[in-house]
Amino acid sequence: MSATLATVSYIGATILFILSLGGLSNPETSRRGNLYGIIGMTIAVLATVFGPQVTPTGYAWIVGAMVVGAAIGLYAARIVKMTQMPELVALMHSLVGIAAVFIGFANYIDPAATSQFKGAEKTIHELEIYIGVLIGAVTFSGSVIAFGKLSGKIGGKPVLLPARHWINLIGLLVVIYFGGVFINTHSVAEGMTPLIVMTVIALLFGIHMVMAIGGADMPVVISMLNSYSGWAAAATGFMLNNNLLIVTGALVGSSGAILSYIMCRAMNRHFIAVIAGGFGTGEGAPAAAGVQPAGEVSPILAPETAELLRGAKNVIIVPGYGMAVAQAQHSVYEITKFLRDKGVNVRFGIHPVAGRMPGHMNVLLAEAKVPYDIVLEMDELNGDFPDTDVSMVIGANDIVNPAAQDDPTSPIAGMPVLEVWKAKTSIVMKRSMASGYAGVDNPLFYKENNRMLFGEAKKTLDEVMVALKAA
Ligand code: TAP
Repeated sequence: MSATLATVSYIGATILFILSLGGLSNPETSRRGNLYGIIGMTIAVLATVFGPQVTPTGYAWIVGAMVVGAAIGLYAARIVKMTQMPELVALMHSLVGIAAVFIGFANYIDPAATSQFKGAEKTIHELEIYIGVLIGAVTFSGSVIAFGKLSGKIGGKPVLLPARHWINLIGLLVVIYFGGVFINTHSVAEGMTPLIVMTVIALLFGIHMVMAIGGADMPVVISMLNSYSGWAAAATGFMLNNNLLIVTGALVGSSGAILSYIMCRAMNRHFIAVIAGGFGTGEGAPAAAGVQPAGEVSPILAPETAELLRGAKNVIIVPGYGMAVAQAQHSVYEITKFLRDKGVNVRFGIHPVAGRMPGHMNVLLAEAKVPYDIVLEMDELNGDFPDTDVSMVIGANDIVNPAAQDDPTSPIAGMPVLEVWKAKTSIVMKRSMASGYAGVDNPLFYKENNRMLFGEAKKTLDEVMVALKAA
């Protein structure tokens, strides 16, 4: 493929990626957005593989790597459950990070890549390598720790070392110092020491940064690492002189940064405070240690729930992580359809950090074919609870916790929540009195107008459906 054709293909792929991001911003156009992304990526891979930068001797390596990568990807896509998606995404980010580190080192020791640069060009190229490896290493180790935290292999409690800000500052100064040493070296052998020292510090910084972040801040961490992986890819693009990788990396980096901002706003947190760590001291789901139920709860059974729903005019359903665990979205849809056919106004209230990844609930509800126009964001319907007869909380906990508003000492104080308790009756569907991800008790359970419908969400919803049909 000629260089011109490769460039034209890259421009086409870039446009498709931008259209893809635009499409993914709305559930109704997200399928189209995905399709644009798939086509763009196919064009990008083909234009790179058959482009002028790859010699025929490289094909065997590329085909081998693609076969292994595709096999692992297909296997993972088949076995990974929807609830494990955030962990998978964290692992994917770590791969982008480690790839940037390897490419940086390979680029530095490759005589063909380095000998073509002289003077200022050489300094710029070495700076690209240094920064690329730095971002890649932080992304890699940070994402591995995020994977551990999300999968429950590492506790959600923040690990706060004494003088941790000083440790970070000293690490930063050492990295800057060795950056100066690195670009002033005259041989690869000399430059290896500062490069390796910086890589080790960056790896330790990534671990330290994510370990210090508490369970409740994990949504921000996920989007932040998403952004870092984009910048790592962009840095790789500079090292390899690949314009498409620079543009794609910048798109991922900036969209991840915007997502981090949205997540911070959704949790009423400042980005710097999140990075500084220490928020959300819980151990994660279920039954966090030290959280004692405080008060009496009023249990309810499926037939009474069905009766309340049948008598309601307005119903708001608030789904959370438990709906994803139980894979209850199809049962939710059945009930929704039944009630809507009977003239009940059923709507869904989606909290920005419900579940374990951005858009988690929207994806599940779309999969179950719940109409998009009744799926509303928290801000769109939070004022409507006083006019609601029944609010039904399905496997959600932190996102409906009134302590966020009432208790300034709560680890989730200040986080906007769905005010389900303002409905005439609220029904919370969960298996036990265990706390949610942030590990804090929920005073909603003890409110006078609240009922607890204990049980596994899917099974319980199916029982409610049977009771609805029987009446
Ligand atoms: P959570 O607060 O984690 O509560 C989920 C509830 O679902 C649990 O209390 C659990 O209680 C119940 N549950 C679990 N499995 C169930 C099942 N099979 N059937 C019925 N109930 C079940 O979830 P949420 O309200 O969606 O809030 C999300 C939390 O995750 C927030 O703290 C958020 O900061 C955090 N987080 C979010 C993200 C993103 S990006 N969305 C990423 C990481 C962390 P039982 O065990 O008693 O059943």
